[in-house]
Amino acid sequence: SGSSSEQQGKEPPGPRPLPLLGNLFQLDLKRLGDTLFEISKKYGSVFTVHIGPKKVVVLAGYKTVKEALVNHAEEFGERGIVHVFKELQQGHGISFANGDSWKEMRRFALTNLRDFGMGKKGSEEKTIEEVRYLTEVFEEHKGKAFDPTQPIHYAIANIICSIVYGSRFDYLDPRFRHSVDRVNDSLRLGGCASIELYNIFPWLGRLLESKRRIFKNDYDNKKEICDLVSGLKETLNPQMCRGFVDSFLVRKMSLEESGNSNSHYHIENLIQTVGNLFAAGTDTTATTIRWGLMFIAKYPDIQDRVQEEISKVIGSRQPMVEDRKNLPYTDAVIHETQRVANILPVSLPHVTSRDITIQGYFIKKGTVVIPLLTSVLRDDCEWETPQTFNPAHFLDEKGRFVKKDAFIPFSLGRRVCLGESLARMELFIFFTSLLQRFRFSPPPGVTEDDLDLTPVAGLTHNPLPHQLCAVSRSE
Ligand code: HEM
Repeated sequence: SGSSSEQQGKEPPGPRPLPLLGNLFQLDLKRLGDTLFEISKKYGSVFTVHIGPKKVVVLAGYKTVKEALVNHAEEFGERGIVHVFKELQQGHGISFANGDSWKEMRRFALTNLRDFGMGKKGSEEKTIEEVRYLTEVFEEHKGKAFDPTQPIHYAIANIICSIVYGSRFDYLDPRFRHSVDRVNDSLRLGGCASIELYNIFPWLGRLLESKRRIFKNDYDNKKEICDLVSGLKETLNPQMCRGFVDSFLVRKMSLEESGNSNSHYHIENLIQTVGNLFAAGTDTTATTIRWGLMFIAKYPDIQDRVQEEISKVIGSRQPMVEDRKNLPYTDAVIHETQRVANILPVSLPHVTSRDITIQGYFIKKGTVVIPLLTSVLRDDCEWETPQTFNPAHFLDEKGRFVKKDAFIPFSLGRRVCLGESLARMELFIFFTSLLQRFRFSPPPGVTEDDLDLTPVAGLTHNPLPHQLCAVSRSE
């Protein structure tokens, strides 16, 4: 602490760390978001914790997270790459990459997701097609209790398949099922305490069964993606790209033909990027839909109002994205679902790209930063009843939908979720289509009060294993 660091500001405060173990005894790794939120109430909106020997700066509350990720987008816009991903991804792909390669892959993926008019069908149409298949599966249960998790995950994964490969898969196709199940398994394991510890103490690696499984899943996934890519390569028609993979292969070929053999468009980047789109684009959206069904099963009055609105405005025809503006209550319930579900409580880690002072606190280049989304989605300066499910957060006194700045489940800034608009479209189409067709309720013998909304830790916050009844409304 010389005079220069005094000029730049002081170190963010925080609980006193033990050697090697840091603050591990103060942190509940299974509910990291919640414990960090509690610590922020004592130490303020910029504070330091030591996860093991690793120093991490946490940003809490809407004002601080926005100031960092938006007003200092460059300084806070780099990905902090935890050990397990460094080994698996080798700097390729999007989610756990930085620099020029990241920039190029992110831009290319965004363009392809956005104007997916390159195939015959846009992604809205693909989503509508997929929700029809899901409806059939729900109908097969004839109102009896079932666990909707797997079919919802298969449906959402299929939308990514349509965009990436240009075709969907049958829910019963074992190769498809295994791919989706493997990604879910890894995400579950990725957030469990033993992997957190592995990230901190890599030398523990050999001892850990979960690490072995994550690596095996990753190996199998890459092999599967490779097989599918080879198949597409054989039937490639550059005039008619079927999906993201085709368009990547065409770009790769044209760069090679023009003598640029050293570009970012190489096979490792293709495989990692496809893997990232699946991992980031399936579990997140599917889990949010599962939370949505839990909430409306728990709060039947809210379900009544959504269904009245859908009946009045849409009737029995297929809901479309352009109906959203006429469904303010339903829209508010979807937003409130994302706020309360809070599926990525600590977002993904960032790292500072240079020295930076924020709110008088000095943070050195290369420091891992956690934008604590929990603290924004539950910020009591921003929400009337931060701890309860309350669609009125997104409605004015006339019942019109109102946007809220602190609604940032997709984060903000340079690393903001790349799939945000796709995800919002999927959530709207799935939620409205399912509520149009079905009445959701807890299984017989379980009351609404019994439905337990405690989240299970993983890389994403999941509902506890549960069953629901989906009773067809037309009967
Ligand atoms: C990153 C949320 C759906 C692709 C992220 C991040 C969050 C997030 C919080 C981290 C942002 C940061 O670093 O600050 C969500 C939620 C979703 C969702 C809540 C659904 C409800 C999707 C979908 C896709 C996707 C459907 C793919 C099509 C990605 C990718 C990244 C990302 C590739 C990494 C971006 C980068 O590092 O540059 N998402 N996401 N996400 N998301 Fe999503």
